[in-house]
Amino acid sequence: MRCVTGLKPGLPAEPGGRRELHVIMTTCLSIKWRRGLLALSLAMTVGAIAAEGELPRIKVDAAKAGASVNPMMWGLFFEDINFGADGGLHAQMIKNGAFEFANPAMGWRSMDASGQAPVIHSNTPIYSVSPRYLVLRKAGAVVNEGFRGMGVRAGESYQFSLYGRTVESGASSALRVELVGDNGAVLATARLANFSSQWTKHSAVLKSTGTDTKARLRLALEEEREVHLDHISLIPQRTWTGQANMLRADLVQLLADMKPGFLRFPGGCIVEGRTLPLRYQWKNTIGPVDQRPLLINRWNDEFKHRPAPDYFQTFSLGFFEYFLLCEDIGAEPLPILNCGMACQFNSGELAPLDQLDPYIQDALDLIEFANGDASTAWGSKRAAMGHAKPFGLEVLGIGNEQWGPRYIERYAAFARVLKARHPGIKLISSAGPAPADDKFRFLWPKLRDLKADIVDEHCYANPGWFFDNASRYDSYDRNGPKVFMGEYAAQSVKVVSPENRNTLECALAEAAYMTGLERNADVVVMSAYAPLLAHVDAWQWTPNLIWFDNLRSVATANYYVQQLFSRNRGDTVLPLVLEGLNSGANGARPLLYASSVREAKTGEVIIKVVNPGAEAITARVEIAGQAATETTTRAGEITVLTGQDLQAENTLDNPRAVFPARQRLEMRGDSFTFSFAPRSLSVLRAPMGR
Ligand code: AHR
Repeated sequence: MRCVTGLKPGLPAEPGGRRELHVIMTTCLSIKWRRGLLALSLAMTVGAIAAEGELPRIKVDAAKAGASVNPMMWGLFFEDINFGADGGLHAQMIKNGAFEFANPAMGWRSMDASGQAPVIHSNTPIYSVSPRYLVLRKAGAVVNEGFRGMGVRAGESYQFSLYGRTVESGASSALRVELVGDNGAVLATARLANFSSQWTKHSAVLKSTGTDTKARLRLALEEEREVHLDHISLIPQRTWTGQANMLRADLVQLLADMKPGFLRFPGGCIVEGRTLPLRYQWKNTIGPVDQRPLLINRWNDEFKHRPAPDYFQTFSLGFFEYFLLCEDIGAEPLPILNCGMACQFNSGELAPLDQLDPYIQDALDLIEFANGDASTAWGSKRAAMGHAKPFGLEVLGIGNEQWGPRYIERYAAFARVLKARHPGIKLISSAGPAPADDKFRFLWPKLRDLKADIVDEHCYANPGWFFDNASRYDSYDRNGPKVFMGEYAAQSVKVVSPENRNTLECALAEAAYMTGLERNADVVVMSAYAPLLAHVDAWQWTPNLIWFDNLRSVATANYYVQQLFSRNRGDTVLPLVLEGLNSGANGARPLLYASSVREAKTGEVIIKVVNPGAEAITARVEIAGQAATETTTRAGEITVLTGQDLQAENTLDNPRAVFPARQRLEMRGDSFTFSFAPRSLSVLRAPMGR
């Protein structure tokens, strides 16, 4: 009789600080499973323990290698929605620092007694691409409100800069620069002087004496002069230390901690724009940051229930920075380009087929920018930006969430050229906004006929859909295009409801679904939760993977699900059978969802098990196909993600309501008994017996 499952406290916490799960050792000695205790200190109820022979079984065959798991299987979807870029990932704290928003004074307030709006001119700008600048006169003062405030910490330093000039030749004008707390207290001061009649860059360091998420920046002219100011910038000195400059360290760390296989950018609907002139154009997002033309963000007024009139794209985070970010966090770059179609939920404007060349040229140029050597036109631009080494782009998206015959025509035109010139680049095509509607049913056969590489499916649906579709890909055609589950998230209320929350129930529904993605890794080659980031005071869409304010960030339960799958990706699918775990009732859902992979580098078998129910389920886990004898002892580990109830969610103030706990797992022989906690995702790592 083989069987010892010991769970001992003791593994050191993972990076990011996982809490310990205290488990009382359970020993299954011989013959019969002892009716006994398996106590988990996380208030997990232990279900009724049956005699060993009656226990449900999770059977894995470690000797029967299945499909390979794509290294890009679990990735990140980034879109500048919910203030994800400006006011989010990018650390710039000044909103509208170049005065180019539609309302040029937006974000700025005059401190004049007159109460008049700040004065903006555009007669003799520094750059024609951003013609407007601020005019401060006669001891005037202005305040910038930041992105729903500015986050500052006591003792930390902030790099301030602007371009300035004075119109009164020879006059020395001085400008007081202050960080001001929400309560009006001055937290830091600097003084800029010696403005000349030429536009000149001035800078200073502001060291804050206080911590505040809602600080502001005040600029006050000390004398009765006139100065012109532009490109006003305030960035923490402590940012992400990688080469992707000026990014918020805490947010990038969360992305890196997921060990993502890829990063999709820049969206999302933002790729499409509401009209074609408002589409995302990558060439406008590279080069000197001050000279990137501003564009309205399409989420600015998309939802009447969540208007964001101050939402614009400065492109401070542009394509070059996205590529650098991918390198920093070890993710493959996955850019998505406009295919000559504006958002079909908005204007649906089309570039005529005979005028598609510039769009296709953008794709060709992007490939050269990413992969060309320094002798090529676009490769040399990348090299001049400081990155001589190619980025190694392998996958490219043609259009975001498009549908209909007009999309098929445009995708085909792109594919014809790109496949001829770059046969090694895999193209992503769209299956529309929903996973089973008429649009979807129209697109799939057409894309199959076109021999598309990878089809991007999207799904925002209630948790039930995800549980019910865990076997969706079991019956997919093995000879057609591969699948990219490119956007998905369980919605606790309904799609685009502002009431949606990142509940444990949603996270477990996604986890159950992901066991189906993993089991079908021969068909599903990539996937990503969407959207990624959301500012708690400035979001348009919910739920999201990571929430943040101006100082803090919180990983949701959904994030931890993604992280557990990604960090336990393995490389080969193993067959897994559940016995005695189907409730048996008509159409009722299974009691557990599970999948298994093998990881070559560690020689471990990884088993992921989702128990969405309210009771613990004790099951016998059998790993066949290894050279284990009854006396073979091995130490593995198990990580359990759970929370108090299905509505549990992580917030900035309570970030660990749903949090993974890691524990050592000792086993002898090739099977063991384990009690899967209620409402949990468990990830077991078992070394192969030798
Ligand atoms: O993730 C939010 C939006 O949902 C994306 O921009 C779009 O592709 C989808 O409709």
